[in-house]
Amino acid sequence: MNQSAPVLTVDGPGGAGKGTISRLVADQLGWYLLDSGALYRLTALAASRHAVALDDEAGLAHVAAHLDVTFQTGGDTPQVLLEGEAVSGAIRTEQMGDAASRVAALPAVRKALLQRQRDFRQAPGLVADGRDMGTVVFQDAPLKIFLTASAEERARRRYSQLREAGVDASLSSLLKDIQARDARDMQREVAPLVPAEDAVELDTTHLTIPEVVDRLTELLANRGLVTVT
Ligand code: DC
Repeated sequence: MNQSAPVLTVDGPGGAGKGTISRLVADQLGWYLLDSGALYRLTALAASRHAVALDDEAGLAHVAAHLDVTFQTGGDTPQVLLEGEAVSGAIRTEQMGDAASRVAALPAVRKALLQRQRDFRQAPGLVADGRDMGTVVFQDAPLKIFLTASAEERARRRYSQLREAGVDASLSSLLKDIQARDARDMQREVAPLVPAEDAVELDTTHLTIPEVVDRLTELLANRGLVTVT
């Protein structure tokens, strides 16, 4: 970990485009990327594989603290390995997203994952994608973004992604899931989903992906964190 390395935090509700945008900005700058949601999804998957119940807080915290995870970067398709097995697809299902949101509401699990997330801070910089990156994990980040989009638009984006992947989906049930997950993430007692006081809020409902990336690059440049050529 390098405390002085700059961090761009990208928080917001599921489906606002955080993952795609964070990856593009990190690639463009040559910075490291933390997909913190993946750590909660991996905890949920490891728990189900080791038969730990989703309401067993101490058991889940133990699973989180001992996660055997490798993020393979480089190459065209980054892979996540859990105990040596490729699980990038297995952690992306709606079911695992729901389980992740449940384990993420448990304080002992969040505590167990805190240092692991901070260890991603390395020079030349880090883009950190999540819900509490700016409010809890990297409170001193020099640029904090809160990315939003209407629930309807987020459901539509998820629907198109699933259809493109050949997965059968219903727009109305996706919308219901998104609303339920938003409510759980925003109302939990520990590290709820709220913008940091010093975050820049960006509504992406009517913006394209390149427009959002440009806006973030501009903000980074305005704060002297990158030089634009
Ligand atoms: O971003 P995602 O959909 O992969 O996240 C999965 C769940 O994990 C989400 O419902 C909320 C939780 N999460 C969290 O509580 N804190 C984070 N920093 C990232 C994700």
